Amino acid sequence: MAGWVVVVGSINVDLTVQVSRLPRPGETVVNGTLTRSGGGKSANQACAAARFGATTRFVGAVGDDAMADEALDSIAAAGIDVSRCIRLAGTPTAVALIMVDVAGENQIAVASGANGVLDGAAVAAALTDLEPPPGSALLLALEVSDPVVVAAAQWAAARGMTIVVDPAPARPLPPELLATHPIVKPNQTEAFQLTGERTAQAAAAALHARTGAPVIVTLGAGGAMLFDPGHGGPDHLPSPRVETIDATGAGDALTGILAACLASGAPVRAALSWAVTGAALSTLGNGARGALPTRPEVGLLMGMVTG
Ligand code: RIB
Repeated sequence: MAGWVVVVGSINVDLTVQVSRLPRPGETVVNGTLTRSGGGKSANQACAAARFGATTRFVGAVGDDAMADEALDSIAAAGIDVSRCIRLAGTPTAVALIMVDVAGENQIAVASGANGVLDGAAVAAALTDLEPPPGSALLLALEVSDPVVVAAAQWAAARGMTIVVDPAPARPLPPELLATHPIVKPNQTEAFQLTGERTAQAAAAALHARTGAPVIVTLGAGGAMLFDPGHGGPDHLPSPRVETIDATGAGDALTGILAACLASGAPVRAALSWAVTGAALSTLGNGARGALPTRPEVGLLMGMVTG
């Protein structure tokens, strides 16, 4: 059964240069190839959830420049409802400058534009009459301000929704967000930054102590670790080996698929198993959304029969 996923957060236009190797500080690398595509961690996550079959709604902000429609169209084309998005006058749409090397590794810098100007009151107003069905999930990342994240989390908590937070880029999580008991899903670097710990398990335990909810630490090509003391574990879910072309947005794919599975009623471990496999498949194309898999495609790789 397809569930509802509501995504509140960032939407960017990605300008990506494929290079033979990433430049060091102060160095110039030439002969790259430029591509331009939709991006932003939250918008990417919305696309991953929608591609996986979730009924997906996105709330975020664009500016009033030429890139605004390009950014919104890139997710509306994926079947995502963008009717609650906000256009901010006198503000540029966010742009990410990305470099990707031949191994698929990247460097990213974001001009936050409208993402950084969006405020919590506007988000609360945009969400006020939205009533998702029971079991729905809210997805949050940190390319928008704390008041935005808190407003969305409190809206979701009041409706009994499952809240998933991708703490990227990492910064301290506000107490009002922790009080909504979100599933927090950092990568290993972010987990260390958030907790000061030096192992994935210790960092997950520290985050669990703050949220009382399952914690997922993603390990890149190593898969992910689920820390959920109520259900055994810690549990390591390995990733299938693939020939990565571009790892940009792999974490976003994982988060979007995780939310889609949770919203369709899957337990956290099963949802993460789908998400880890889907994230690996998402690296087989260029760009953050270049190879987002469908549920049957992921099921095929997992050796499962899907409906
Ligand atoms: O996670 C990848 C995303 O990070 C890119 O799409 C870029 O826009 C940045 O937000």
